[in-house]
Amino acid sequence: MEKITTISLMGMKAKGERIAMVTAYDYPTAKIADEAGIDAVLVGDSLGNVILGYPSTLPVTVDEMLHHTRAVAKAIKRALVVGDLPFMSYQASTEDAIRNAGRFIKEGHAEAVKVEGGRGMVEKIEAIVRAGIPVMGHLGLTPQWIHQLGGFKVRGKTEVAARAILEDARVLERAGVFSLVLECVPWQLAKLITERSGVPTVGIGAGPYCDGQVLVLHDLLGLTGPHIPKFVKRYARLGDAMAKALADFRQEVKVGKFPSLEHSYEMPGEELKKLKRLSKVGPR
Ligand code: KIV
Repeated sequence: MEKITTISLMGMKAKGERIAMVTAYDYPTAKIADEAGIDAVLVGDSLGNVILGYPSTLPVTVDEMLHHTRAVAKAIKRALVVGDLPFMSYQASTEDAIRNAGRFIKEGHAEAVKVEGGRGMVEKIEAIVRAGIPVMGHLGLTPQWIHQLGGFKVRGKTEVAARAILEDARVLERAGVFSLVLECVPWQLAKLITERSGVPTVGIGAGPYCDGQVLVLHDLLGLTGPHIPKFVKRYARLGDAMAKALADFRQEVKVGKFPSLEHSYEMPGEELKKLKRLSKVGPR
């Protein structure tokens, strides 16, 4: 089993081998993803909405991210572990950017970090890369910028907007990113960026021509909803399966069917005899 690194991901682009990436936020799901052969696992700041019940990714803190990144990193043997720098952990200064990216490596045991934003983030990205930490860029719909973008809409739909994203991709590549997430952009734009880029693109809502694809684990497993974005494909309905299992458990407890003796411990015969003798002479 060959460990996936940032270099192997770049090699996969060169060979035309597609990259499969998912998010994970805990030990058991990260282990399943790794054993399924997923190439890269992103501890996304989608942690906020998916796991912590926040209305968006904006309130997520570095400490919350590190708590989950550590659990994921412990489970992974093969995949590349990428930690998502949360809102305001890198925007204010290059010092913040380096320090917080460093915490993901030292305390979270991630192998790379992801940074949202285009040309305005170049200084921060260059500084993190110079510190020896691989950076994955993220363009298109960048949820940390949602108040500025005015909502969760497809980005780059006009020629002018598409050119801006294309230019951001070029600038980020020059800044040293090893890969680029493209979120919610027209497939024609994602295809153009992918063809022109020397680093692998990983799409989410960016069509089939990216070098790889990423989905939020809970979306693809059917644990979120009922409303899901157009780009999500459900590969399982685990939410329904969990609801049924819990309803069955509840019913069996209520009617005394669970636990049966099959799920109970038995006392050895000799000990049982002693216990019975004791209960005859002991206080009632
Ligand atoms: O936080 C996240 O899960 C992400 C992916 C959607 C790419 O950034």
